[in-house]
Amino acid sequence: MSDHLKRIAAQEAVREIRDGMIVGLGTGSTAAHFIRLLGERVRAGLNIRAIPTSENSAALAHEEGIALTTFEQHPTLDLTVDGADEVSPELDLIKGLGGALVREKVVAHASRRVLIVVDEGKLVDRLGTRTVIPVEAIPFAADLVVLQLQKWGGSASIRQKNGRHFISDNGNCVIDWSHGLVDNALEMEKRIKAVTGVVDSGIFAGIASSVISAGPSGIRRMDR
Ligand code: 5RP
Repeated sequence: MSDHLKRIAAQEAVREIRDGMIVGLGTGSTAAHFIRLLGERVRAGLNIRAIPTSENSAALAHEEGIALTTFEQHPTLDLTVDGADEVSPELDLIKGLGGALVREKVVAHASRRVLIVVDEGKLVDRLGTRTVIPVEAIPFAADLVVLQLQKWGGSASIRQKNGRHFISDNGNCVIDWSHGLVDNALEMEKRIKAVTGVVDSGIFAGIASSVISAGPSGIRRMDR
């Protein structure tokens, strides 16, 4: 059911893509729907270039025949379409359960507009309601970052995959921090980023321009 809703949200987003755009490609199952739908339009003649937020999304774009570009050629993107794990009423986000948070944030910051597509189960009254806060840290510092986050409250642990540390596309660890409800997203984002050894966190405060959510009763669009 939620996968069907993710696809509906992605369908709505793909309608915003116009000829000549430089498009940021998010990561995750909702972004994958968007990339496949965009591929259909490219094969029908749409002329765009894209910058992916992960190796997985790059591979999918390649399969779909979507031409990729670089920041060297295109330092500013027209529109990025990405998923999220939580969306607050202020359109602040938690992202990164898929482990691509740093590249997602880099691409989002380089974009004129950031459109987030979710199934409506991701909408929360306050960030931290249903998910951990992912924090990417260099491996050398990861244990120290875990201790610092635990001092601030809640539990934190280095993400595991197949019995080993999960390693991001950037060669880093991801720490999942169960902090609980976040009072001030921007302040929390800055506070985490100031810890030495942290690359960035999955809190995206003030970054989303618009959110499209799909639910059983239809599609809702929220603009900043
Ligand atoms: C990956 C992300 C994803 O956008 C987020 O995890 C949502 O994924 P999905 O669309 O599969 O629910 O931030 O780093």
